[in-house]
Amino acid sequence: MTTLEIRDLHVDVAQTDSDAEPIHILKGVDLTVKSGETHAIMGPNGSGKSTLSYAIAGHPKYQVTSGSITLDGEDVLEMSVDERARAGLFLAMQYPVEVPGVSMSNFLRTAATAVRGEAPKLRHWVKETKEAMTALEIDPSFSERSVNEGFSGGEKKRHEILQLDLLKPKIAILDETDSGLDVDALRVVSEGVNRYKERDNGGVLLITHYTRILRYIKPEFVHVFVNGRVVESGGPELADVLEENGYERFTSAAKAG
Ligand SMILES: Nc1ncnc2c1ncn2[C@@H]1O[C@H](COP(=O)(O)OP(=O)(O)OP(=O)(O)O)[C@@H](O)[C@H]1O
Ligand SMILES: [Mg+2]
Repeated sequence: MTTLEIRDLHVDVAQTDSDAEPIHILKGVDLTVKSGETHAIMGPNGSGKSTLSYAIAGHPKYQVTSGSITLDGEDVLEMSVDERARAGLFLAMQYPVEVPGVSMSNFLRTAATAVRGEAPKLRHWVKETKEAMTALEIDPSFSERSVNEGFSGGEKKRHEILQLDLLKPKIAILDETDSGLDVDALRVVSEGVNRYKERDNGGVLLITHYTRILRYIKPEFVHVFVNGRVVESGGPELADVLEENGYERFTSAAKAG
């Protein structure tokens, strides 16, 4: 049983022009995600959802100015990016990066070795990757392609879930993993996430704009994220309310506050 706990988290982002003042984006985020739980975060563009995911993963541009993030009581903010991954945190990025010259198979094996602390036994590894790729309907030829290079939007998202499947983190943050997926890919990706939940009892933090994916991946908790914090939490029915009414009620309250 693992608990990711975020308390009163404030985060600034450094601007590209290094003389410019950093911008205050997260303004007191409180959130707790446990093994086996699925939390959906929904909120308007620019409200800070990806910033939250980067802050948890340890992106150097995002500076935590106050508050805490702990994993089973261990201070995540004290950990380097790779220590966070080894501790069991995983981020599927909204915009996965391309790594020219590094093959998918090399990347996955290196990542698995780093996270598990030892190289996976080759025979077992080949079987493991083959099964995961088959389940996600990824063509075997992708193994030899450079990571994400020239992948279509949907192919990139599928590969994020392939990593999730093979790295078996304790808590997975999926930032708009459903964006740009056709109906079949959405099903395949959702099944991958559900497999992870069942097999590894993983905790999932699912950032999305659409209730469509929530029909496949059932969240127990839905959070409304506005202006750098969680402004309301509820059960799955909250997602339907948002789809129906939008965020107006929350954004006007956030402005008034
Ligand atoms: N490196 C950066 N430099 C300047 N501004 C940034 C930077 N990173 C984030 N921001 C700003 O922080 C705000 C929050 O961005 P973030 O990507 O976290 O939003 P989001 O909720 O994920 O939005 P979306 O739903 O569109 O993905 C935005 O206004 C964005 O422009
Ligand atoms: Mg985002």
